[in-house]
Amino acid sequence: MRVLVTGGAGFIGAHLCERLLESGDKVVCLDNFKTGSRDNVKHLRTDKSFEMVKKDLLDPLDFRIDRVFNLACPASPQRYQKDPIGTIKINTIGMIGLLELARRRKARILQASTSEVYGDPLAHPQSEDYWGNVNPIGPRSCYDEGKRIAESLMFAYGAQHRVDIRVARIFNTYGPRMGTDDGRVVSNFIVQALEGNDITVYGDGSQTRSFCYVSDMVEGLCRLMDAENFTGPVNLGNPAEITVLDLARKVKKMTGSASMIRFRPLPTDDPVRRRPDITLAKRKLGWKPKVDLDTGLRKTIDYFRTVLDRG
Ligand SMILES: NC(=O)c1ccc[n+]([C@@H]2O[C@H](COP(=O)([O-])OP(=O)(O)OC[C@H]3O[C@@H](n4cnc5c(N)ncnc54)[C@H](O)[C@@H]3O)[C@@H](O)[C@H]2O)c1
Repeated sequence: MRVLVTGGAGFIGAHLCERLLESGDKVVCLDNFKTGSRDNVKHLRTDKSFEMVKKDLLDPLDFRIDRVFNLACPASPQRYQKDPIGTIKINTIGMIGLLELARRRKARILQASTSEVYGDPLAHPQSEDYWGNVNPIGPRSCYDEGKRIAESLMFAYGAQHRVDIRVARIFNTYGPRMGTDDGRVVSNFIVQALEGNDITVYGDGSQTRSFCYVSDMVEGLCRLMDAENFTGPVNLGNPAEITVLDLARKVKKMTGSASMIRFRPLPTDDPVRRRPDITLAKRKLGWKPKVDLDTGLRKTIDYFRTVLDRG
C-alpha cells in the first residue's frame, strides 16, 4: 500500500508513520511543520519506503496513493486558538481537497476526528450516538465545529461519491513526541514538574479526563483503516477516568518533583467530564487499550527528561 499520512510529522502522525513502515507500507508524510517537527520523523528519512513532503494541506494535492490518514490539524487548544480561521480552513477547504484526492485515486480515507465533537458533554460516558453539546461561537468552536463539519464532509463524500471513508473520534492521547510547549495537560504537567516550576491546574482540578497511550491509539487507527464495511464514527480512547488534580499529584510523585500545585481560572468552555464509551470499538475492531496510565506516564516522563536534558 502507498499510504499518505497528513500531519505525519506531528505527535500521533510520527508514531503512525513508524508503524505503517514496520507493516511494509510505503509512506508519504505530508506536513507543513506548523505544530509538528522534522525531529519527529528524522529517524525514518533513511528508509526507502518513506517520503517526506513539506506542503500545506490547503495547497493543491496530487499523490498516487491507496490510503489516506488525515491527521493534519493542530490539536492543542493553545495552538488551534492562535489561528482560528486557519483551524477552520484546514477542516473545511483542506478536508474537501483531500476528499477530492481520495475520490480521484479511489483511495480509502480515515479522518482523525475528536472527542471535541461532543463539546462539554451532557451524556456520560460519551458514546457515538450522542450528538454533543458544542458552543458554536466560543473560543474552542474553530476546532470543535471544524471537526464536526469535517465529519459531515466525510459522510457527504461517502454518500454522494462513494468515497471509502473511516472516521475515528480520538480522545486525549499522550506519549513521547508531544511538544514540550504545546500546552496539553500531560506534557504541561510533566515539563513543569521536571523543571521544578509550579504545576498549573485550571479550575479546582475536579474536571475529569481519560488518557490513551499513543501506541494503543495507533493500533486502533490501523484496525479501523483495515476494517471492512465499517465507516465509524468510532470512539478511540482509554475509558479509565482521572481528575486533573489527581493527574497533577501523580505526575509530581512519579517525577519526584518539589513543584507546587497552583490553581488558575478555568478557561471558557473547558469540558467538565470526558470518558469514551468504547463498546463499539471493542465489538467492531476487537480493540481496547492495553497500556495503563502509570506505564504510559513512566515512558512519557523518560522521554521528556531526555528532551529537557538535551536542552
Ligand atoms: N492528541 C490528541 O489527544 C488528539 C485528540 C483528538 C484528536 N486528535 C487529532 O489527531 C490529529 C493529530 O494530533 P496530534 O496530537 O498528533 O497533533 P499535532 O499538532 O502534533 O499534529 C498535527 C500535525 O499536523 C500538521 N499540520 C497542521 N496544519 C497543517 C496544514 N495546514 N498542512 C499540513 N500539515 C499541517 C502539524 O504541523 C502537525 O505535524 C489531529 O487532527 C488532532 O485533531 C488528537
